[in-house]
Amino acid sequence: MAKATSKKKKTLAEKADKFICYQKSVQTPDHEIEFFEQAYKEVNGKKPYVLREDFCGTFAVCCEWVRSNHKRTALGVDLCQETLQWGRDHNLADLSPGEQSRVKISEQDVRKRNRPTADVLAAQNFSFWLFKTRSEVLEYFRIARDNLKSGGVMVMDMMGGGDCYQEDLVDKRTIKKGKKGFQYMWEQASFNPVNADATFYISFKFADGSKLKRAFEYQWRFWTIPEVRELLEEAGFTESHVYWENDDEDSDEYGNWERGNDAPSNPSWICYIVAVK
Ligand SMILES: C[S@@+](CC[C@H](N)C(=O)[O-])C[C@H]1O[C@@H](n2cnc3c(N)ncnc32)[C@H](O)[C@@H]1O
Repeated sequence: MAKATSKKKKTLAEKADKFICYQKSVQTPDHEIEFFEQAYKEVNGKKPYVLREDFCGTFAVCCEWVRSNHKRTALGVDLCQETLQWGRDHNLADLSPGEQSRVKISEQDVRKRNRPTADVLAAQNFSFWLFKTRSEVLEYFRIARDNLKSGGVMVMDMMGGGDCYQEDLVDKRTIKKGKKGFQYMWEQASFNPVNADATFYISFKFADGSKLKRAFEYQWRFWTIPEVRELLEEAGFTESHVYWENDDEDSDEYGNWERGNDAPSNPSWICYIVAVK
């Protein structure tokens, strides 16, 4: 008897690559680098050359860093073998041989001291929030400080605002329109006010209605700016600054970050904290 040969057509979600969707939705490495340059220059009056990207994932920022200047070198640090390999096969492979030689990747815990030390240490996309106690964060900040040169800066992004504490909230954004397009969904699933534990997911929805549901999951402690600055001071950083985005109508579409000691209590905000060694 003839075997049934009809194959089920794959959905767009089944054909999609979650890392490509992630990079297109949440990362803008060129903007990040512009900010690193600003933050470093405001302290040292010159350009930074050595980057350490903690929690680097697919190390898109390291790759953009070495592409931005031929003297620049980058070290990316992450624990996840699969994610790093994706970065090697896609982001690193896109660089010229000379650029590739200036990127080093280390599959290790970020809480490890490495040499050479860096001008800029970046810990982006709230990644250190996976450390849920003061002692864990303090240990990480002490090691991060040791991984910097004198005058080096540690850059972290932070989020907050009343909306962030709401449970079962999904924020949707269309990343690309049309048949090949997709939607990014940021889900705030839970928040526990007793210990500030919070769960978030990233999902993607495609034009045929199929989904990569909860492609990324984050179990974090929702840290606040003053808590983080106090811990940075305790870890030995000499100063820390909070940068808020100036959304003046006259300013650029993106990237007008200014130091500030007060800010409007918006329902949802993002800022940077920059700590100086
Ligand atoms: C939120 S993702 C951030 C990815 C990327 N930095 C970005 O900005 O989009 C967090 C990353 O941290 C990594 N990670 C978690 N704990 C780690 C640890 N203790 N040491 C090194 N990497 C860690 C995970 O494997 C994951 O790739």
